[in-house]
Amino acid sequence: MAYRIAIIVGSLRAGSFNRQLGEALTKLPAAAGHHFVFPDIGTLPLYDQDADGAPAAEVTAFKQAVASADAVIFVTPEYNRSIPGVLKNALDQGSRPYGKSVWGGKVAGVIGTSPGKVATALAQQHLRNVLAYLDMPTLNQPEAFVQWSDTLLDDSGAVGEGSAGFLDGWMKAFLALVDAHVS
Ligand code: FNR
Repeated sequence: MAYRIAIIVGSLRAGSFNRQLGEALTKLPAAAGHHFVFPDIGTLPLYDQDADGAPAAEVTAFKQAVASADAVIFVTPEYNRSIPGVLKNALDQGSRPYGKSVWGGKVAGVIGTSPGKVATALAQQHLRNVLAYLDMPTLNQPEAFVQWSDTLLDDSGAVGEGSAGFLDGWMKAFLALVDAHVS
């Protein structure tokens, strides 16, 4: 079955390594035939519970983009050993008003890259904590702590030889979890 998958990137930086990794994931052999969208989290206002009754157009558009997806992949950097504030803000925006969360039941994949040796491991653990509360069935294994290097991707932006097999296996495992929950 062909799925619509939202890739949420936790960095707003032009040239973000995580954005590049997210785009490369869509080019993996296992991703062929599926449709990927990249909902924008950079235009979301800071979450304010007072705005629950009259959400900004950007919030409504973001929630619709997530709601219309079969599953979500979070590709995030690690900021100060946790997830970036912009990503937490997007998670909070999508979770409210109470009872109107777009996250519940959607399968999630968690992945990220950093030049550092622990390569987003701690941010991913924090993110998993939030996703558990949001009731998102999340791929546990394989974990994907991807250390960024100039050779991670090739000149076309696809995953280079060194990591292609591992990341294709990660995508297959993610899609198998989606299969198990959607249908
Ligand atoms: C970082 N960086 C970083 N790296 C890491 O491995 N662990 C960390 O805790 C942090 N903390 C951190 C905080 C802040 C505020 C910044 C700006 C950066 C470095 C980070 O991995 C690097 O800047 C990446 O390039 C960020 O990902 P994108 O924007 O390239 O996707």
